[in-house]
Amino acid sequence: MAAAVAMQQASGLQSSFCGASLKQKAAVSGRPQNVAFAVRAAGYDEELIKTARTIASPGRGILAIDESNATCGKRLASIGLENNEVNRQAYRQLLCTTPGLGEYISGAIMFEETLYQSTSDGKKMVDCLVEGGIVPGIKVDKGLVPLAGSNEESWCQGLDGLASRTAAYYKQGARFAKWRTVVSIPNGPSDLAVTEAAWGLARYAAICQDTGLVPIVEPEVLLDGSHGIDRTLEVAEKVWSKVFYYLGENNVLLEGILLKPSMVTPGAECPERATPEQVAEYTLKMLRRRVPPAVPGIMFLSGGQSEVEATLNLNAMNQSPNPWHVSFSYARALQNSVLKTWKGQPENLEAAKKALLVRAKANSLAQLGKYSAEGEAKEAREGMFVKGYTY
Ligand code: 13P
Repeated sequence: MAAAVAMQQASGLQSSFCGASLKQKAAVSGRPQNVAFAVRAAGYDEELIKTARTIASPGRGILAIDESNATCGKRLASIGLENNEVNRQAYRQLLCTTPGLGEYISGAIMFEETLYQSTSDGKKMVDCLVEGGIVPGIKVDKGLVPLAGSNEESWCQGLDGLASRTAAYYKQGARFAKWRTVVSIPNGPSDLAVTEAAWGLARYAAICQDTGLVPIVEPEVLLDGSHGIDRTLEVAEKVWSKVFYYLGENNVLLEGILLKPSMVTPGAECPERATPEQVAEYTLKMLRRRVPPAVPGIMFLSGGQSEVEATLNLNAMNQSPNPWHVSFSYARALQNSVLKTWKGQPENLEAAKKALLVRAKANSLAQLGKYSAEGEAKEAREGMFVKGYTY
Protein backbone atom coordinates (compact mmCIF):
# COMPACT_ATOMS: atom_id res chain seq x y z
CA MET A 1 0.00 0.00 0.00
CA ALA A 2 3.08 2.29 0.06
CA ALA A 3 2.38 3.19 -3.54
CA ALA A 4 -1.16 4.23 -2.69
CA VAL A 5 0.00 6.42 0.19
CA ALA A 6 2.66 8.10 -1.96
CA MET A 7 0.12 8.79 -4.68
CA GLN A 8 -2.41 10.18 -2.25
CA GLN A 9 0.23 12.52 -0.83
CA ALA A 10 1.38 13.57 -4.28
CA SER A 11 -2.15 14.35 -5.40
CA GLY A 12 -3.10 16.08 -2.17
CA LEU A 13 -5.73 13.48 -1.34
CA GLN A 14 -5.97 13.25 2.43
CA SER A 15 -8.72 10.69 2.35
CA SER A 16 -8.37 6.97 2.81
CA PHE A 17 -7.64 4.61 -0.09
CA CYS A 18 -11.23 3.42 -0.25
CA GLY A 19 -13.32 4.24 -3.30
CA ALA A 20 -16.09 6.16 -1.47
CA SER A 21 -13.89 8.95 -0.17
CA LEU A 22 -12.07 9.24 -3.48
CA LYS A 23 -15.40 9.63 -5.25
CA GLN A 24 -16.40 12.42 -2.84
CA LYS A 25 -13.17 14.25 -3.67
CA ALA A 26 -13.82 13.73 -7.35
CA ALA A 27 -17.25 15.32 -7.03
CA VAL A 28 -15.83 18.35 -5.20
CA SER A 29 -13.17 18.83 -7.86
CA GLY A 30 -15.77 18.80 -10.60
CA ARG A 31 -15.21 15.27 -11.87
CA PRO A 32 -18.35 13.29 -12.57
CA GLN A 33 -19.39 11.21 -9.60
CA ASN A 34 -18.96 7.41 -9.60
CA VAL A 35 -15.90 7.55 -11.80
CA ALA A 36 -13.45 5.11 -10.29
CA PHE A 37 -9.78 5.79 -10.83
CA ALA A 38 -6.82 3.64 -9.97
CA VAL A 39 -4.33 4.80 -7.37
CA ARG A 40 -0.84 3.49 -7.89
CA ALA A 41 2.59 5.10 -7.89
CA ALA A 42 4.36 4.96 -11.22
CA GLY A 43 7.83 4.70 -9.60
CA TYR A 44 9.13 1.64 -11.41
CA ASP A 45 6.64 1.48 -14.28
CA GLU A 46 9.02 2.29 -17.10
CA GLU A 47 11.63 -0.11 -15.82
CA LEU A 48 9.06 -2.88 -15.29
CA ILE A 49 7.82 -2.53 -18.85
CA LYS A 50 11.37 -2.60 -20.18
CA THR A 51 12.30 -5.67 -18.14
CA ALA A 52 9.18 -7.55 -19.20
CA ARG A 53 9.79 -6.72 -22.86
CA THR A 54 13.43 -7.78 -22.64
CA ILE A 55 12.41 -11.16 -21.24
CA ALA A 56 9.68 -11.49 -23.84
CA SER A 57 12.01 -10.88 -26.78
CA PRO A 58 11.85 -12.87 -30.04
CA GLY A 59 13.37 -16.34 -29.99
CA ARG A 60 14.01 -16.29 -26.24
CA GLY A 61 12.46 -17.69 -23.09
CA ILE A 62 13.19 -18.43 -19.45
CA LEU A 63 15.40 -21.08 -17.87
CA ALA A 64 13.79 -22.05 -14.55
CA ILE A 65 16.40 -23.22 -12.05
CA ASP A 66 14.55 -22.18 -8.92
CA GLU A 67 14.09 -25.61 -7.36
CA SER A 68 14.00 -25.44 -3.57
CA ASN A 69 16.92 -27.22 -1.90
CA ALA A 70 14.72 -30.27 -1.34
CA THR A 71 13.64 -30.46 -5.00
CA CYS A 72 17.16 -29.78 -6.24
CA GLY A 73 18.15 -32.72 -4.05
CA LYS A 74 15.80 -34.94 -6.07
CA ARG A 75 17.43 -33.78 -9.30
CA LEU A 76 20.88 -34.52 -7.89
CA ALA A 77 19.77 -37.88 -6.46
CA SER A 78 18.65 -38.91 -9.98
CA ILE A 79 22.33 -38.86 -11.00
CA GLY A 80 23.65 -40.26 -7.71
CA LEU A 81 24.86 -36.99 -6.17
CA GLU A 82 24.48 -35.96 -2.55
CA ASN A 83 22.29 -32.93 -1.85
CA ASN A 84 24.78 -30.45 -0.43
CA GLU A 85 25.62 -26.82 -1.16
CA VAL A 86 28.77 -27.66 -3.14
CA ASN A 87 26.90 -29.97 -5.51
CA ARG A 88 24.03 -27.52 -5.92
CA GLN A 89 26.58 -24.80 -6.66
CA ALA A 90 28.37 -27.00 -9.23
CA TYR A 91 25.09 -27.76 -10.99
CA ARG A 92 23.84 -24.16 -11.04
CA GLN A 93 27.29 -22.97 -12.13
CA LEU A 94 27.12 -25.31 -15.13
CA LEU A 95 23.76 -23.80 -16.09
CA CYS A 96 24.61 -20.13 -15.45
CA THR A 97 27.97 -20.14 -17.23
CA THR A 98 27.09 -21.89 -20.49
CA PRO A 99 28.55 -19.65 -23.22
CA GLY A 100 26.06 -18.45 -25.82
CA LEU A 101 23.02 -19.28 -23.68
CA GLY A 102 21.78 -15.68 -23.82
CA GLU A 103 20.96 -16.11 -27.50
CA TYR A 104 18.06 -18.37 -26.53
CA ILE A 105 17.47 -17.57 -22.86
CA SER A 106 16.38 -14.10 -21.75
CA GLY A 107 15.85 -14.75 -18.03
CA ALA A 108 16.78 -17.30 -15.37
CA ILE A 109 14.72 -17.87 -12.22
CA MET A 110 16.86 -18.72 -9.21
CA PHE A 111 16.27 -20.01 -5.73
CA GLU A 112 17.44 -17.64 -2.96
CA GLU A 113 20.58 -19.70 -2.33
CA THR A 114 21.76 -19.19 -5.94
CA LEU A 115 20.95 -15.46 -5.97
CA TYR A 116 23.45 -14.96 -3.17
CA GLN A 117 25.89 -17.65 -4.35
CA SER A 118 29.17 -17.35 -6.25
CA THR A 119 30.82 -19.80 -8.62
CA SER A 120 33.71 -21.97 -7.39
CA ASP A 121 36.10 -19.27 -8.66
CA GLY A 122 34.34 -16.53 -6.73
CA LYS A 123 32.19 -14.83 -9.36
CA LYS A 124 28.60 -14.01 -8.42
CA MET A 125 26.08 -16.20 -10.27
CA VAL A 126 24.06 -13.03 -10.88
CA ASP A 127 27.03 -11.44 -12.68
CA CYS A 128 27.52 -14.56 -14.82
CA LEU A 129 23.92 -14.27 -15.99
CA VAL A 130 24.01 -10.53 -16.63
CA GLU A 131 27.25 -10.84 -18.62
CA GLY A 132 25.58 -13.54 -20.69
CA GLY A 133 22.66 -11.20 -21.50
CA ILE A 134 20.26 -13.02 -19.15
CA VAL A 135 18.00 -11.19 -16.67
CA PRO A 136 18.28 -12.65 -13.13
CA GLY A 137 15.01 -13.65 -11.45
CA ILE A 138 14.04 -15.02 -8.06
CA LYS A 139 11.42 -17.40 -6.70
CA VAL A 140 9.73 -15.58 -3.83
CA ASP A 141 6.92 -17.84 -2.69
CA LYS A 142 7.40 -19.97 0.41
CA GLY A 143 5.75 -23.08 -0.93
CA LEU A 144 2.43 -24.86 -0.64
CA VAL A 145 0.57 -25.92 2.50
CA PRO A 146 -2.86 -27.52 3.03
CA LEU A 147 -5.77 -25.11 2.62
CA ALA A 148 -8.01 -25.54 5.65
CA GLY A 149 -11.69 -25.83 4.77
CA SER A 150 -11.04 -27.07 1.24
CA ASN A 151 -11.18 -30.42 -0.49
CA GLU A 152 -7.59 -31.36 0.41
CA GLU A 153 -6.32 -28.51 -1.75
CA SER A 154 -3.40 -26.20 -1.06
CA TRP A 155 -2.50 -22.54 -0.84
CA CYS A 156 0.76 -20.73 -1.29
CA GLN A 157 2.57 -18.97 1.55
CA GLY A 158 4.96 -16.04 1.41
CA LEU A 159 3.15 -12.68 1.60
CA ASP A 160 4.33 -11.83 5.13
CA GLY A 161 7.47 -9.71 4.87
CA LEU A 162 7.46 -10.03 1.08
CA ALA A 163 8.02 -6.30 0.41
CA SER A 164 11.26 -6.26 2.38
CA ARG A 165 12.45 -9.48 0.74
CA THR A 166 11.71 -8.24 -2.80
CA ALA A 167 13.48 -4.93 -2.06
CA ALA A 168 16.55 -6.89 -0.92
CA TYR A 169 16.39 -9.17 -3.99
CA TYR A 170 16.30 -6.11 -6.24
CA LYS A 171 19.43 -4.79 -4.52
CA GLN A 172 21.10 -8.14 -5.13
CA GLY A 173 20.38 -7.85 -8.86
CA ALA A 174 17.06 -9.64 -9.39
CA ARG A 175 14.71 -7.91 -11.82
CA PHE A 176 11.82 -10.34 -11.94
CA ALA A 177 10.13 -12.78 -9.60
CA LYS A 178 8.08 -15.95 -9.56
CA TRP A 179 5.25 -17.12 -7.33
CA ARG A 180 3.88 -20.56 -8.09
CA THR A 181 0.59 -21.68 -6.68
CA VAL A 182 -1.36 -24.71 -7.86
CA VAL A 183 -4.91 -25.72 -8.69
CA SER A 184 -5.88 -29.38 -8.66
CA ILE A 185 -8.61 -30.56 -11.02
CA PRO A 186 -9.29 -33.97 -9.35
CA ASN A 187 -9.71 -32.23 -5.97
CA GLY A 188 -12.26 -29.76 -7.28
CA PRO A 189 -11.07 -27.17 -7.76
CA SER A 190 -13.19 -25.48 -5.09
CA ASP A 191 -14.11 -21.78 -5.39
CA LEU A 192 -12.24 -21.26 -2.15
CA ALA A 193 -8.99 -22.68 -3.56
CA VAL A 194 -9.25 -20.74 -6.83
CA THR A 195 -10.06 -17.47 -5.04
CA GLU A 196 -7.20 -17.94 -2.59
CA ALA A 197 -4.77 -18.73 -5.43
CA ALA A 198 -5.87 -15.71 -7.49
CA TRP A 199 -5.86 -13.25 -4.56
CA GLY A 200 -2.42 -14.38 -3.38
CA LEU A 201 -0.99 -13.99 -6.87
CA ALA A 202 -2.45 -10.50 -7.22
CA ARG A 203 -1.11 -9.31 -3.84
CA TYR A 204 2.31 -10.76 -4.68
CA ALA A 205 2.27 -9.07 -8.11
CA ALA A 206 1.42 -5.65 -6.64
CA ILE A 207 4.17 -5.96 -4.02
CA CYS A 208 6.75 -7.00 -6.62
CA GLN A 209 5.90 -4.06 -8.87
CA ASP A 210 6.16 -1.67 -5.92
CA THR A 211 9.76 -2.80 -5.43
CA GLY A 212 10.87 -2.97 -9.07
CA LEU A 213 10.45 -6.68 -9.86
CA VAL A 214 8.38 -7.94 -12.79
CA PRO A 215 6.09 -10.60 -11.31
CA ILE A 216 5.59 -13.89 -13.13
CA VAL A 217 2.02 -14.88 -12.37
CA GLU A 218 1.81 -18.68 -12.17
CA PRO A 219 -1.35 -20.46 -11.14
CA GLU A 220 -0.33 -23.95 -12.26
CA VAL A 221 -3.30 -26.11 -13.20
CA LEU A 222 -1.75 -29.47 -12.34
CA LEU A 223 -1.55 -32.24 -14.94
CA ASP A 224 -2.76 -34.78 -12.34
CA GLY A 225 -6.04 -36.50 -13.15
CA SER A 226 -7.90 -38.57 -15.72
CA HIS A 227 -10.09 -35.71 -17.02
CA GLY A 228 -10.22 -34.78 -20.71
CA ILE A 229 -8.95 -31.60 -22.35
CA ASP A 230 -12.38 -29.88 -22.26
CA ARG A 231 -12.42 -30.05 -18.48
CA THR A 232 -8.92 -28.52 -18.34
CA LEU A 233 -10.11 -25.69 -20.59
CA GLU A 234 -13.08 -25.03 -18.31
CA VAL A 235 -10.92 -24.92 -15.17
CA ALA A 236 -8.16 -22.83 -16.77
CA GLU A 237 -10.74 -20.25 -17.92
CA LYS A 238 -12.18 -20.03 -14.42
CA VAL A 239 -8.76 -19.65 -12.83
CA TRP A 240 -7.49 -16.97 -15.23
CA SER A 241 -10.70 -15.02 -15.03
CA LYS A 242 -10.31 -14.74 -11.24
CA VAL A 243 -6.61 -13.98 -11.52
CA PHE A 244 -7.23 -11.03 -13.86
CA TYR A 245 -10.11 -9.80 -11.74
CA TYR A 246 -7.87 -9.57 -8.69
CA LEU A 247 -4.88 -8.21 -10.64
CA GLY A 248 -7.17 -5.34 -11.62
CA GLU A 249 -8.44 -4.89 -8.07
CA ASN A 250 -4.82 -4.61 -6.90
CA ASN A 251 -3.90 -2.02 -9.56
CA VAL A 252 -1.28 -4.26 -11.11
CA LEU A 253 0.29 -2.82 -14.27
CA LEU A 254 -0.43 -5.47 -16.90
CA GLU A 255 2.36 -4.24 -19.20
CA GLY A 256 4.78 -5.07 -16.39
CA ILE A 257 3.89 -8.70 -15.68
CA LEU A 258 4.54 -12.06 -17.32
CA LEU A 259 2.31 -15.12 -17.15
CA LYS A 260 3.34 -18.68 -16.57
CA PRO A 261 0.35 -20.88 -17.41
CA SER A 262 0.09 -24.61 -17.83
CA MET A 263 -0.76 -25.67 -21.36
CA VAL A 264 -4.32 -26.87 -21.79
CA THR A 265 -3.89 -30.65 -22.14
CA PRO A 266 -5.82 -33.75 -21.06
CA GLY A 267 -5.04 -34.96 -17.50
CA ALA A 268 -1.91 -37.10 -17.27
CA GLU A 269 -4.01 -40.23 -16.71
CA CYS A 270 -6.57 -39.55 -19.43
CA PRO A 271 -6.43 -42.35 -22.02
CA GLU A 272 -7.25 -39.92 -24.82
CA ARG A 273 -4.12 -38.00 -25.71
CA ALA A 274 -3.99 -34.69 -27.61
CA THR A 275 -1.79 -33.75 -30.55
CA PRO A 276 0.34 -30.57 -30.40
CA GLU A 277 -2.17 -28.94 -32.75
CA GLN A 278 -5.05 -29.70 -30.35
CA VAL A 279 -3.07 -28.48 -27.34
CA ALA A 280 -2.26 -25.28 -29.24
CA GLU A 281 -5.88 -24.78 -30.29
CA TYR A 282 -7.26 -25.22 -26.76
CA THR A 283 -4.51 -23.26 -25.04
CA LEU A 284 -4.72 -20.30 -27.41
CA LYS A 285 -8.50 -20.31 -27.21
CA MET A 286 -8.29 -20.07 -23.43
CA LEU A 287 -5.64 -17.33 -23.53
CA ARG A 288 -7.49 -15.23 -26.12
CA ARG A 289 -10.63 -15.39 -23.98
CA ARG A 290 -8.89 -14.44 -20.77
CA VAL A 291 -5.60 -12.54 -21.29
CA PRO A 292 -5.59 -8.87 -22.40
CA PRO A 293 -3.08 -8.01 -25.13
CA ALA A 294 -1.44 -5.52 -22.75
CA VAL A 295 0.36 -8.49 -21.17
CA PRO A 296 3.73 -8.76 -22.95
CA GLY A 297 4.56 -12.43 -22.52
CA ILE A 298 3.16 -15.88 -21.88
CA MET A 299 5.95 -18.14 -20.64
CA PHE A 300 4.67 -21.70 -20.29
CA LEU A 301 5.75 -24.21 -17.67
CA SER A 302 6.46 -27.76 -18.84
CA GLY A 303 4.65 -29.49 -15.96
CA GLY A 304 6.05 -33.01 -16.51
CA GLN A 305 5.77 -33.16 -20.30
CA SER A 306 8.78 -34.66 -22.07
CA GLU A 307 11.33 -32.24 -23.46
CA VAL A 308 10.21 -32.89 -27.04
CA GLU A 309 6.48 -32.75 -26.22
CA ALA A 310 6.83 -29.36 -24.48
CA THR A 311 8.80 -28.00 -27.43
CA LEU A 312 6.40 -29.37 -30.05
CA ASN A 313 3.41 -27.89 -28.23
CA LEU A 314 5.09 -24.49 -28.02
CA ASN A 315 5.99 -24.67 -31.69
CA ALA A 316 2.37 -25.42 -32.60
CA MET A 317 1.25 -22.32 -30.70
CA ASN A 318 3.57 -20.13 -32.75
CA GLN A 319 2.35 -21.09 -36.21
CA SER A 320 0.48 -17.81 -36.54
CA PRO A 321 0.92 -14.43 -34.85
CA ASN A 322 -0.32 -14.01 -31.27
CA PRO A 323 -1.14 -10.81 -29.36
CA TRP A 324 1.56 -11.70 -26.81
CA HIS A 325 5.03 -13.24 -26.98
CA VAL A 326 4.33 -16.97 -26.53
CA SER A 327 7.35 -18.71 -25.09
CA PHE A 328 8.74 -21.01 -22.41
CA SER A 329 9.84 -20.94 -18.78
CA TYR A 330 10.77 -24.58 -18.41
CA ALA A 331 12.60 -26.34 -15.62
CA ARG A 332 12.26 -30.07 -16.26
CA ALA A 333 11.95 -29.74 -20.04
CA LEU A 334 15.24 -27.81 -20.22
CA GLN A 335 17.24 -29.63 -17.58
CA ASN A 336 16.56 -33.32 -18.00
CA SER A 337 19.10 -34.15 -20.72
CA VAL A 338 21.61 -31.79 -19.13
CA LEU A 339 21.54 -33.73 -15.86
CA LYS A 340 21.73 -37.09 -17.61
CA THR A 341 24.71 -35.92 -19.67
CA TRP A 342 26.57 -34.32 -16.76
CA LYS A 343 26.14 -37.11 -14.17
CA GLY A 344 28.15 -34.96 -11.75
CA GLN A 345 31.43 -35.77 -13.56
CA PRO A 346 33.81 -32.89 -14.40
CA GLU A 347 34.78 -34.61 -17.68
CA ASN A 348 31.14 -34.35 -18.83
CA LEU A 349 30.83 -30.64 -18.13
CA GLU A 350 31.32 -29.41 -21.68
CA ALA A 351 28.96 -32.05 -23.10
CA ALA A 352 26.33 -31.05 -20.50
CA LYS A 353 26.62 -27.38 -21.50
CA LYS A 354 26.14 -28.44 -25.12
CA ALA A 355 23.06 -30.44 -24.12
CA LEU A 356 21.63 -27.30 -22.48
CA LEU A 357 22.27 -25.30 -25.65
CA VAL A 358 20.54 -28.00 -27.74
CA ARG A 359 17.35 -27.76 -25.62
CA ALA A 360 17.49 -23.97 -25.36
CA LYS A 361 17.91 -23.65 -29.13
CA ALA A 362 15.05 -26.10 -29.82
CA ASN A 363 12.71 -24.01 -27.66
CA SER A 364 13.98 -20.80 -29.22
CA LEU A 365 13.05 -22.22 -32.63
CA ALA A 366 9.66 -23.25 -31.21
CA GLN A 367 9.11 -19.69 -30.00
CA LEU A 368 9.63 -18.63 -33.61
CA GLY A 369 7.41 -21.47 -34.89
CA LYS A 370 10.32 -23.11 -36.73
CA TYR A 371 11.07 -26.26 -34.72
CA SER A 372 11.07 -29.81 -36.02
CA ALA A 373 11.57 -32.83 -33.74
CA GLU A 374 13.60 -34.62 -36.40
CA GLY A 375 16.78 -36.11 -34.99
CA GLU A 376 15.78 -35.62 -31.32
CA ALA A 377 17.24 -38.20 -28.93
CA LYS A 378 15.03 -40.93 -27.44
CA GLU A 379 15.54 -39.66 -23.86
CA ALA A 380 14.27 -36.23 -24.86
CA ARG A 381 10.95 -37.90 -25.70
CA GLU A 382 10.52 -39.49 -22.27
CA GLY A 383 7.80 -37.95 -20.08
CA MET A 384 8.72 -36.61 -16.64
CA PHE A 385 5.29 -36.48 -15.03
CA VAL A 386 5.31 -37.22 -11.29
CA LYS A 387 1.98 -37.57 -9.51
CA GLY A 388 1.47 -34.84 -6.85
CA TYR A 389 4.71 -33.12 -7.88
CA THR A 390 6.01 -30.43 -5.53
CA TYR A 391 8.49 -27.79 -6.57
P1 13P B 1 8.46 -27.25 -14.93
O1 13P B 1 8.79 -26.67 -16.29
O2 13P B 1 9.39 -28.34 -14.52
O3 13P B 1 7.01 -27.61 -14.81
O4 13P B 1 8.74 -26.10 -13.87
C1 13P B 1 7.80 -25.12 -13.67
C2 13P B 1 8.24 -24.06 -12.75
O5 13P B 1 7.40 -23.42 -12.15
C3 13P B 1 9.65 -23.73 -12.61
O6 13P B 1 9.83 -22.39 -12.23
